[in-house]
Parts: sequence; structure tokens; C-alpha cells
Amino acid sequence: MKASAPGKVILFGEHAVVYGRHAVVTAINLRCYAEAKKSNKIRIESPIATTGLDFEKHPYVSHAVKRFMEVKPVGGVQIKIDSQIPVSSGLGSSAAVTVSVLKAMDAEFNAGLSDDEIFELARKVELDVQGIGSGTDPFVSTHGGAWLIPERKRLNLPDIKILIVNSGESSVTAEMVARVAELRGEMEEVVEKIFDVIDAVAMKSLSMESFSKLFSVNQCMLKAIGVSTKNIDEIIQQLEELGVAAKITGAGGGGSVIGVGSYSALQRVKNIFGGVIVEPEGEGVRIED
Ligand code: MEV
Repeated sequence: MKASAPGKVILFGEHAVVYGRHAVVTAINLRCYAEAKKSNKIRIESPIATTGLDFEKHPYVSHAVKRFMEVKPVGGVQIKIDSQIPVSSGLGSSAAVTVSVLKAMDAEFNAGLSDDEIFELARKVELDVQGIGSGTDPFVSTHGGAWLIPERKRLNLPDIKILIVNSGESSVTAEMVARVAELRGEMEEVVEKIFDVIDAVAMKSLSMESFSKLFSVNQCMLKAIGVSTKNIDEIIQQLEELGVAAKITGAGGGGSVIGVGSYSALQRVKNIFGGVIVEPEGEGVRIED
């Protein structure tokens, strides 16, 4: 059986959300596809490698298979992954691969898991691999749509298009979350205040038609906690000069920059920098025919 799950962008609130602040996040119309077939051994095939259960090359898929087998013991499975979501880019590819694998296995082995149970397993996988995390990525990938976190309240976003530009540097969530934790350990009073500003920005976005000014403030705060890079700062400055407000999305340290602005400005930037223009996606994990 084949399943798919969407990637996501965090519009506001990454990192602060790990410490209980608000985030505004939406699924996007880029999906990861996972196929699961009964087998007598475990085989995982992806654009990265073909392996057995391999916690280094395929950490999320391997932990997902392991967690699924705790719920429903099976002799083996062949998994095939095909994703539209660039990896290590802050677009939720890890959660989408986890959720789509769990859904495909659920369907292939008739485990009867609800989407909430799939999310709970995906949440465990996130912690298995990263040790820390807010659960936002697997939640949004499972359910689709736009959400206010931590309440998990569905949001109706204004009609937006989002430009995604790859910084060319990879983003490793676990590393960046650990780096922010270290900074917070050194200067808790300061970092907590920065998180409060990020929280205020996320809440303000709920009543604003345009996200442009808030993107810029959120980005300044992300820079302040050390998750931007020189390269990303330069990209963002160039985008701003072309009329597109931009920020990191996800863990940072590399990964993707997201931009908002008029459609013509987004197109102009896309022609110069490459990238992809996406939209919020309403549908979460699903079975593919
Ligand atoms: C990663 O996409 C977002 C972070 O806030 C981590 C998390 O929420 O788990 C950096």
C-alpha cells in the first residue's frame, strides 16, 4: 500500500515553540510518498540508499518500522520512499517520511490505527531520533492544514503563496535545537525574553493580513539566538531588496528561507534564486491509489 504525507512550513515561532511559546504552522503542497509491501525481511529503499533497518542512513524510517512492529509484530516489510520535500531543509521531510511510512504499514498490515495513533507513534519516532522536539512537525504532517501550536487550534490563513528558497546549507534539527538549549543554559533570562518576542509575533500574525513585517521581526529574533547564518542573512537581504520579506523556517543553521510578498515579487525572486512557490495544504496523511 502507498501513503503520502505533506511537508510543512513554520510561519512563526520555531525554537520558541520547544519552550512552550506559540507557533503558527501550515502543511504545504509538497508530499512524501511511502510504499509498504509485506516481505520476510526488512528493506528500505530511498533516494539516499537501499538498506535494511539502518538507524544511521534511514533513522526516521527505521525507527518508524520498529515502533510499528511494537504495535503489530510483522515478519518484515519492503519500504520504498519517494519525496517531493527536500531533506534537511526545515520543511518537515523527516516527519512526512515517518508519518507516510506508518500510514502505509498500517494499511498494508491492517493494523487499524487512527490518524491520532499514527501521530502518537510518529511523535515517539521524533523523540527516538532527536531526543527533543515539540511534536509540531508530525502533528501537522498527520492532520494537514494550518495550526496554532501548542493549543493545536485550526487556523484559517489569509490566501498566501510562500516562496521557498534553499540556502544550500543543510539544517539538522537535533543539532540546532541542542545549540539553542546550550545558549539558553548560558543566559536563560535573555533567551526567554527573545522567546517571548517570538511568541508575541506569532500571536500578532493571527490578526494581520500581511505577514511581511512580522517575518522580519521573527527573523531578527532567530538571528539573535544564533540559528541564522551569514549566507542566509545575505539571501534575506537580497530578497528584501526585491520586495520579498523573508525568514528561516524550521530549525535553521541552513535549510530553507521562506518569503512572502506580491506574486510578481515572488516570481521575480524565483527567477533569480530558483526555489519553489507553495501554498498551504489542507489534507494530511492519506492513502494513495
Ligand atoms: C523544527 O522544524 C522546528 C523546531 O522548533 C523544533 C521543534 O519544534 O521540534 C526548531
